[in-house]
Amino acid sequence: MAPNSSCCQHRMLLAVWLTLLVLHGHVLVGAAQSSSKLSDQLLKRYLSNEELVAWMDEFTHKCSHMSRKYSIGKSAGGAELWVLELSDKPGQQEAEPHFKYVGNMHGNEPSGRMLLPQFAEWVCANYKSNDDARRLVDKMHTHLLVTMNPDGFAARKRENGNNVDLNRNFPDPVELKGSAEKMKQPLPNAQPETIAMMKWTLDTPFVASANLHEGAIVANYPFDGYADHSERLTGKRHPAPDDAAFQFLAKLYAKKHSFMAKSQEFRDGITNGAQWYPVYGGMQDWNYLAGRCLAITLELSQSKWRPEGELPSLWQENREALLALPLAAGLGGISGTVVSAGDGSPLPATVMLDGIAWNTSARMPAGYFNRPAAPGSYTLRIVHPGYQPASAAVTVPEDGSGVVANFQLARAGDKNSSSIRGASSSRQGGRSSFTVTPLTKAAAERDRQQKQNMATAILGLLFCICGAMALLHVCNGQRPRQRLYNRVGHVTE
Ligand SMILES: *[C@@H]1O[C@H](CO)[C@@H](O)[C@H](O)[C@H]1NC(C)=O
Ligand SMILES: *[C@@H]1O[C@H](CO)[C@@H](O)[C@H](O)[C@H]1NC(C)=O
Repeated sequence: MAPNSSCCQHRMLLAVWLTLLVLHGHVLVGAAQSSSKLSDQLLKRYLSNEELVAWMDEFTHKCSHMSRKYSIGKSAGGAELWVLELSDKPGQQEAEPHFKYVGNMHGNEPSGRMLLPQFAEWVCANYKSNDDARRLVDKMHTHLLVTMNPDGFAARKRENGNNVDLNRNFPDPVELKGSAEKMKQPLPNAQPETIAMMKWTLDTPFVASANLHEGAIVANYPFDGYADHSERLTGKRHPAPDDAAFQFLAKLYAKKHSFMAKSQEFRDGITNGAQWYPVYGGMQDWNYLAGRCLAITLELSQSKWRPEGELPSLWQENREALLALPLAAGLGGISGTVVSAGDGSPLPATVMLDGIAWNTSARMPAGYFNRPAAPGSYTLRIVHPGYQPASAAVTVPEDGSGVVANFQLARAGDKNSSSIRGASSSRQGGRSSFTVTPLTKAAAERDRQQKQNMATAILGLLFCICGAMALLHVCNGQRPRQRLYNRVGHVTE
């Protein structure tokens, strides 16, 4: 063989090899490019469970300065339940509020799987140019469980992999007579998804949360059930102690949504859960009573599983509302810290609002507390064993900037009373008025007297009303007209 031909053959082999190398490189780059475009697919189709995880990896890589991905457990079918946290210091403990959005609890209601990732993309893309996006990232922690029921989604059914409706699988606070400790124990048939959700909620200081569903257009707020665990009272409101805050948050979502507030079926686009139809074993009431987290349920589409072509409009309908809700809940209410006046060490004190029979506590390690509240005036009370109690009159402003009150509690024996340091709005330019009222003995006595007088007055008034009603009843021989509400034909929440 002539050396020439051999050389030629070698050259040809080299050329083929190089071509293959280049082609292979193309394929690799192409694959990388198509996977890096999952974010572009969010408004085009429902991503599979595997694609959603890949999207989350892509997001935490692209927006690494404001996000982290973590798992809260596994579904019945063994799929990891991934959460995306949005914050400038994800995973760190800060004196800031935590909020959670939960999508796709019912497998056949998938809008949250698309809306929550799209929401994260919007926040990351607008962080530099939009004040609200920046406040969300810098001043709070927002956690997105994009799918709570991946197995149900894959099978296109409501229930999880064991055929259990997850929104009937929580310890029922009403049934258990509101015992928070009992409620922390999962039910005997508790599903892996439910147990993961309970542990996550009890371990994270969430101040509020929203759960995304389909089957109606309405923002639904607690309570979902009645104390007697019946359907007997359906149509009658069963308000929670924080009714004003719940209505405020639900109304806010409805108002910021393109058309929810204009509902023909629900006034202002909101409803009390039990009044609509009672739910027992639901996640919403459990969050509020066991998890100390104000939870609402958002029904975002009349028909379940909207066609993929409508995903861009679904996103446009909800975009503003999805951003407004966590900001109002986390930064628009009453927050602050409680420390010991002596050495400044944080205290896990009880935090109460007069007239609201529901307590929160300052959370360690920072002694930070946060209560979502509707605009208005409140008396805030802080108590901790071994310390003098303190109270403050605070006004939650209309502009969503919230009010901050930092307490220094004096020891029970100290001459100096407890005091409040620094009261300000969480946003510059926000108006908030603030009066310090240390609870001295004389003030406490006045307070007790006032309460007693008020109770006497209310009893008197009730007596008068009852008398008048009895008279009317006798005169007309008529029962008061009962209002009947139609129950919707299909189960949604
Ligand atoms: C709130 O805490 C106070 C002080 O510990 C307690 O007296 C009160 O019963 C609590 N209220 C509720 C509704 O738990
Ligand atoms: C009590 O308050 C006064 C004046 O604010 C301060 O000078 C003093 O150090 C305080 N005493 C204690 C025990 O905190």
